[in-house]
Amino acid sequence: MAKKVTVVGAGFYGSTTALRLAEYNIFDEVVLTDIVEGKPEGLALDMNQSRSIEGFETKITGATTTAEGAGYEKTANSDVVVITAGLPRKPGMSRMDLIGVNAGIVRGVAENIAKHSPNAVIIVVSNPLDEMTALAQIATNFPKNRVMGQAGMLDTARFTNFVAEKLGVEVGSVKTLTLGSHGDTMVPVPSRCTVGGVALSDKLSQAEIDELVDRTRNGGAEVVALLKTGSAYYAPSAAAARMAKAVIEDSGAVMPVCAWVDGEYGISGVYLGVEAEIGKSGIRKVVESKLTDAEVASLKEAAEAVRAKQADVLTL
Ligand code: LAC
Repeated sequence: MAKKVTVVGAGFYGSTTALRLAEYNIFDEVVLTDIVEGKPEGLALDMNQSRSIEGFETKITGATTTAEGAGYEKTANSDVVVITAGLPRKPGMSRMDLIGVNAGIVRGVAENIAKHSPNAVIIVVSNPLDEMTALAQIATNFPKNRVMGQAGMLDTARFTNFVAEKLGVEVGSVKTLTLGSHGDTMVPVPSRCTVGGVALSDKLSQAEIDELVDRTRNGGAEVVALLKTGSAYYAPSAAAARMAKAVIEDSGAVMPVCAWVDGEYGISGVYLGVEAEIGKSGIRKVVESKLTDAEVASLKEAAEAVRAKQADVLTL
Protein backbone atom coordinates (compact mmCIF):
# COMPACT_ATOMS: atom_id res chain seq x y z
CA MET A 1 0.00 0.00 0.00
CA ALA A 2 1.27 3.44 -0.92
CA LYS A 3 2.31 5.39 2.14
CA LYS A 4 0.97 8.92 2.22
CA VAL A 5 1.30 11.79 4.67
CA THR A 6 -0.30 15.22 4.47
CA VAL A 7 1.03 18.33 6.13
CA VAL A 8 -1.60 21.05 6.47
CA GLY A 9 -0.12 24.54 6.43
CA ALA A 10 2.90 25.56 4.36
CA GLY A 11 4.38 28.08 6.76
CA PHE A 12 7.86 27.48 8.12
CA TYR A 13 6.68 24.76 10.50
CA GLY A 14 4.67 22.92 7.84
CA SER A 15 7.14 23.22 4.99
CA THR A 16 10.08 22.15 7.18
CA THR A 17 8.06 19.16 8.41
CA ALA A 18 7.14 18.20 4.83
CA LEU A 19 10.76 18.32 3.71
CA ARG A 20 11.97 16.27 6.70
CA LEU A 21 9.29 13.65 5.98
CA ALA A 22 10.24 13.53 2.31
CA GLU A 23 13.94 13.21 3.12
CA TYR A 24 13.25 10.16 5.31
CA ASN A 25 12.45 8.46 1.99
CA ILE A 26 9.88 6.18 3.64
CA PHE A 27 6.69 7.68 2.19
CA ASP A 28 5.51 7.41 -1.40
CA GLU A 29 3.93 10.85 -1.21
CA VAL A 30 4.01 13.92 1.01
CA VAL A 31 1.15 16.36 0.38
CA LEU A 32 1.65 19.94 1.54
CA THR A 33 -1.41 22.20 1.64
CA ASP A 34 -2.05 25.88 2.29
CA ILE A 35 -4.74 28.45 1.68
CA VAL A 36 -2.24 30.84 0.07
CA GLU A 37 -2.72 30.14 -3.62
CA GLY A 38 0.34 28.66 -5.31
CA LYS A 39 2.51 28.57 -2.19
CA PRO A 40 2.28 24.81 -1.51
CA GLU A 41 2.64 24.00 -5.22
CA GLY A 42 5.71 26.25 -5.46
CA LEU A 43 7.33 24.76 -2.36
CA ALA A 44 6.57 21.23 -3.57
CA LEU A 45 8.13 21.96 -6.95
CA ASP A 46 11.24 23.30 -5.25
CA MET A 47 11.46 20.33 -2.85
CA ASN A 48 11.00 17.82 -5.68
CA GLN A 49 13.93 19.42 -7.48
CA SER A 50 16.14 18.64 -4.47
CA ARG A 51 15.39 14.90 -4.67
CA SER A 52 18.24 13.90 -6.97
CA ILE A 53 20.72 15.87 -4.87
CA GLU A 54 19.59 14.56 -1.49
CA GLY A 55 18.81 11.11 -2.87
CA PHE A 56 15.18 10.51 -1.96
CA GLU A 57 12.31 9.31 -4.17
CA THR A 58 9.32 10.51 -2.12
CA LYS A 59 7.15 12.74 -4.27
CA ILE A 60 5.92 16.01 -2.80
CA THR A 61 2.55 17.35 -3.96
CA GLY A 62 1.39 20.90 -3.28
CA ALA A 63 -2.32 21.64 -2.91
CA THR A 64 -3.98 25.01 -2.48
CA THR A 65 -7.08 24.51 -0.34
CA THR A 66 -10.02 26.64 0.72
CA ALA A 67 -11.92 26.78 3.99
CA GLU A 68 -14.89 25.30 2.09
CA GLY A 69 -12.86 22.19 1.32
CA ALA A 70 -11.66 22.71 -2.25
CA GLY A 71 -8.29 21.10 -2.94
CA TYR A 72 -8.54 18.53 -0.16
CA GLU A 73 -9.09 15.72 -2.68
CA LYS A 74 -5.32 15.69 -3.17
CA THR A 75 -4.92 14.70 0.49
CA ALA A 76 -7.29 11.73 0.12
CA ASN A 77 -6.47 8.52 1.95
CA SER A 78 -3.48 9.86 3.85
CA ASP A 79 -2.15 7.50 6.52
CA VAL A 80 -0.94 10.38 8.66
CA VAL A 81 -1.90 14.05 8.71
CA VAL A 82 0.12 16.73 10.50
CA ILE A 83 -1.96 19.84 11.19
CA THR A 84 0.20 22.96 11.47
CA ALA A 85 -2.53 25.37 10.33
CA GLY A 86 -3.14 28.50 12.37
CA LEU A 87 -1.30 31.61 13.42
CA PRO A 88 1.99 31.51 15.32
CA ARG A 89 2.76 33.73 18.29
CA LYS A 90 4.19 37.23 18.11
CA PRO A 91 6.58 38.52 20.79
CA GLY A 92 4.76 39.02 24.10
CA MET A 93 1.89 36.67 23.23
CA SER A 94 1.16 33.46 25.10
CA ARG A 95 0.11 30.37 23.16
CA MET A 96 -3.32 30.78 24.79
CA ASP A 97 -3.77 34.18 23.10
CA LEU A 98 -4.19 32.24 19.84
CA ILE A 99 -7.10 30.09 21.01
CA GLY A 100 -9.97 32.03 19.41
CA VAL A 101 -8.56 32.43 15.91
CA ASN A 102 -6.82 29.06 15.73
CA ALA A 103 -9.86 27.14 16.98
CA GLY A 104 -11.83 28.20 13.90
CA ILE A 105 -8.98 27.29 11.57
CA VAL A 106 -8.21 23.91 13.17
CA ARG A 107 -11.88 22.91 13.34
CA GLY A 108 -12.37 23.58 9.62
CA VAL A 109 -9.18 21.77 8.64
CA ALA A 110 -9.99 18.77 10.83
CA GLU A 111 -13.47 18.42 9.32
CA ASN A 112 -12.09 18.47 5.78
CA ILE A 113 -9.34 16.00 6.64
CA ALA A 114 -11.83 13.61 8.24
CA LYS A 115 -13.92 13.65 5.06
CA HIS A 116 -11.03 12.71 2.78
CA SER A 117 -8.83 10.56 5.05
CA PRO A 118 -11.25 8.79 7.41
CA ASN A 119 -8.59 6.34 8.61
CA ALA A 120 -5.71 8.75 9.19
CA VAL A 121 -3.74 9.29 12.36
CA ILE A 122 -3.75 13.01 13.13
CA ILE A 123 -0.82 14.84 14.69
CA VAL A 124 -1.74 18.36 15.77
CA VAL A 125 0.92 21.02 16.31
CA SER A 126 -1.21 24.20 16.18
CA ASN A 127 -1.32 26.26 19.37
CA PRO A 128 -2.50 26.30 22.06
CA LEU A 129 -1.44 22.71 21.54
CA ASP A 130 -3.37 20.69 24.12
CA GLU A 131 -6.63 22.51 23.35
CA MET A 132 -6.22 22.28 19.57
CA THR A 133 -5.55 18.54 19.87
CA ALA A 134 -8.77 18.10 21.85
CA LEU A 135 -10.64 20.18 19.28
CA ALA A 136 -9.29 18.16 16.35
CA GLN A 137 -10.55 14.96 17.98
CA ILE A 138 -14.01 16.48 18.43
CA ALA A 139 -14.10 17.89 14.88
CA THR A 140 -12.97 14.64 13.24
CA ASN A 141 -14.90 12.41 15.63
CA PHE A 142 -11.96 9.98 15.26
CA PRO A 143 -11.21 7.52 18.05
CA LYS A 144 -9.09 9.33 20.65
CA ASN A 145 -6.06 7.11 20.02
CA ARG A 146 -5.94 8.36 16.43
CA VAL A 147 -5.53 12.02 17.40
CA MET A 148 -2.43 13.24 19.23
CA GLY A 149 -0.44 16.43 19.63
CA GLN A 150 3.21 17.29 19.35
CA ALA A 151 4.76 19.10 22.25
CA GLY A 152 6.54 16.83 24.72
CA MET A 153 9.12 15.74 22.15
CA LEU A 154 9.95 19.37 21.49
CA ASP A 155 10.01 20.48 25.12
CA THR A 156 12.12 17.46 26.03
CA ALA A 157 14.55 18.22 23.20
CA ARG A 158 14.89 21.79 24.44
CA PHE A 159 15.52 20.62 27.99
CA THR A 160 18.11 18.13 26.72
CA ASN A 161 19.87 20.81 24.71
CA PHE A 162 20.03 23.19 27.69
CA VAL A 163 21.41 20.47 29.98
CA ALA A 164 24.02 19.42 27.40
CA GLU A 165 25.14 23.01 26.86
CA LYS A 166 25.29 23.73 30.57
CA LEU A 167 27.47 20.67 31.25
CA GLY A 168 29.44 20.82 27.99
CA VAL A 169 28.51 17.25 27.07
CA GLU A 170 27.07 15.63 23.94
CA VAL A 171 23.27 15.82 23.61
CA GLY A 172 23.34 12.06 23.00
CA SER A 173 24.45 11.42 26.58
CA VAL A 174 21.56 13.42 28.07
CA LYS A 175 18.09 12.03 28.74
CA THR A 176 15.36 14.38 29.91
CA LEU A 177 11.59 14.35 30.07
CA THR A 178 8.79 16.92 30.12
CA LEU A 179 5.12 16.13 30.64
CA GLY A 180 1.98 18.19 31.28
CA SER A 181 0.87 20.99 29.00
CA HIS A 182 2.71 22.78 26.22
CA GLY A 183 2.38 26.00 28.15
CA ASP A 184 2.58 27.46 31.62
CA THR A 185 1.80 24.13 33.28
CA MET A 186 4.54 22.24 31.46
CA VAL A 187 6.04 19.68 33.84
CA PRO A 188 9.75 19.07 33.29
CA VAL A 189 10.60 15.88 35.21
CA PRO A 190 14.11 16.21 36.70
CA SER A 191 13.79 12.84 38.49
CA ARG A 192 13.81 11.16 35.05
CA CYS A 193 16.82 13.14 33.76
CA THR A 194 20.25 11.58 33.46
CA VAL A 195 23.63 12.50 32.02
CA GLY A 196 25.69 9.51 30.93
CA GLY A 197 23.39 7.39 33.09
CA VAL A 198 24.01 9.55 36.19
CA ALA A 199 21.13 11.42 37.84
CA LEU A 200 20.94 15.09 36.84
CA SER A 201 20.76 16.00 40.54
CA ASP A 202 24.29 14.58 40.95
CA LYS A 203 25.58 16.86 38.20
CA LEU A 204 23.82 20.16 38.90
CA SER A 205 22.57 22.00 41.97
CA GLN A 206 18.83 22.41 42.54
CA ALA A 207 19.14 26.10 41.64
CA GLU A 208 20.85 25.24 38.35
CA ILE A 209 18.21 22.61 37.53
CA ASP A 210 15.43 25.10 38.34
CA GLU A 211 17.00 27.60 35.97
CA LEU A 212 17.08 25.07 33.11
CA VAL A 213 13.52 23.98 33.89
CA ASP A 214 12.39 27.61 33.66
CA ARG A 215 14.23 28.13 30.41
CA THR A 216 12.59 24.99 29.03
CA ARG A 217 9.14 26.17 30.07
CA ASN A 218 9.80 29.44 28.22
CA GLY A 219 11.70 27.77 25.38
CA GLY A 220 9.20 28.70 22.68
CA ALA A 221 8.85 32.30 23.87
CA GLU A 222 12.64 32.74 23.88
CA VAL A 223 12.74 31.88 20.16
CA VAL A 224 9.70 34.05 19.38
CA ALA A 225 11.31 37.04 21.14
CA LEU A 226 14.41 36.70 18.94
CA LEU A 227 12.65 36.00 15.63
CA LYS A 228 10.01 38.71 16.21
CA THR A 229 8.01 37.54 13.15
CA GLY A 230 6.98 34.02 14.08
CA SER A 231 7.77 31.02 16.21
CA ALA A 232 10.26 28.15 16.19
CA TYR A 233 10.17 25.51 13.47
CA TYR A 234 13.40 23.52 13.19
CA ALA A 235 13.07 21.67 16.50
CA PRO A 236 9.25 21.57 16.35
CA SER A 237 9.27 20.06 12.83
CA ALA A 238 11.91 17.51 13.83
CA ALA A 239 9.61 16.36 16.62
CA ALA A 240 6.46 16.21 14.50
CA ALA A 241 8.24 14.37 11.70
CA ARG A 242 9.60 11.73 14.10
CA MET A 243 6.09 11.11 15.41
CA ALA A 244 4.74 10.66 11.87
CA LYS A 245 7.64 8.28 11.16
CA ALA A 246 6.81 6.21 14.24
CA VAL A 247 3.21 5.94 13.02
CA ILE A 248 4.00 4.89 9.46
CA GLU A 249 6.67 2.42 10.56
CA ASP A 250 4.40 1.11 13.34
CA SER A 251 7.55 1.30 15.44
CA GLY A 252 6.15 1.28 18.98
CA ALA A 253 8.57 4.07 19.92
CA VAL A 254 7.78 5.62 23.30
CA MET A 255 7.66 9.40 23.06
CA PRO A 256 6.33 12.25 25.18
CA VAL A 257 3.26 13.44 23.26
CA CYS A 258 -0.12 15.01 23.91
CA ALA A 259 -2.46 12.01 24.27
CA TRP A 260 -5.86 11.20 25.68
CA VAL A 261 -5.37 10.19 29.30
CA ASP A 262 -7.80 7.71 30.77
CA GLY A 263 -6.87 6.83 34.34
CA GLU A 264 -3.08 7.05 34.16
CA TYR A 265 -1.54 8.93 37.11
CA GLY A 266 -5.09 9.15 38.51
CA ILE A 267 -6.06 11.54 35.70
CA SER A 268 -8.94 10.92 33.30
CA GLY A 269 -10.76 12.46 30.38
CA VAL A 270 -8.27 15.02 29.12
CA TYR A 271 -5.62 15.47 26.42
CA LEU A 272 -2.30 15.92 28.23
CA GLY A 273 1.43 15.55 27.71
CA VAL A 274 2.42 12.02 28.72
CA GLU A 275 4.71 9.31 27.41
CA ALA A 276 3.02 7.01 24.93
CA GLU A 277 3.78 4.15 22.60
CA ILE A 278 3.24 5.20 18.99
CA GLY A 279 2.27 2.90 16.13
CA LYS A 280 0.02 2.72 13.09
CA SER A 281 -3.10 2.95 15.24
CA GLY A 282 -1.75 6.21 16.69
CA ILE A 283 -1.40 5.96 20.46
CA ARG A 284 -1.05 2.27 21.27
CA LYS A 285 -0.98 3.03 24.96
CA VAL A 286 -0.03 5.69 27.47
CA VAL A 287 3.08 4.62 29.35
CA GLU A 288 2.91 5.49 33.02
CA SER A 289 6.27 5.79 34.73
CA LYS A 290 7.42 6.37 38.26
CA LEU A 291 7.34 10.04 39.21
CA THR A 292 7.90 11.80 42.52
CA ASP A 293 4.82 12.89 44.48
CA ALA A 294 5.58 16.51 43.61
CA GLU A 295 5.80 15.69 39.89
CA VAL A 296 2.47 13.82 39.96
CA ALA A 297 0.91 16.79 41.78
CA SER A 298 2.21 19.14 39.05
CA LEU A 299 0.87 16.82 36.37
CA LYS A 300 -2.56 16.84 38.01
CA GLU A 301 -2.44 20.62 38.19
CA ALA A 302 -1.58 20.75 34.47
CA ALA A 303 -4.46 18.35 33.73
CA GLU A 304 -6.98 20.58 35.51
CA ALA A 305 -5.72 23.74 33.78
CA VAL A 306 -5.92 22.07 30.38
CA ARG A 307 -9.30 20.47 31.16
CA ALA A 308 -10.84 23.88 31.85
CA LYS A 309 -9.53 25.30 28.57
CA GLN A 310 -10.45 22.19 26.57
CA ALA A 311 -14.04 22.64 27.75
CA ASP A 312 -13.88 26.20 26.39
CA VAL A 313 -12.92 25.09 22.88
CA LEU A 314 -16.27 23.36 22.51
CA THR A 315 -17.85 26.78 22.26
CA LEU A 316 -15.29 28.27 19.86
C1 LAC B 1 7.09 26.37 20.28
C2 LAC B 1 5.80 26.49 19.57
C3 LAC B 1 5.88 25.93 18.19
O1 LAC B 1 7.09 25.89 21.42
O2 LAC B 1 4.76 25.99 20.30
O3 LAC B 1 8.11 26.78 19.73
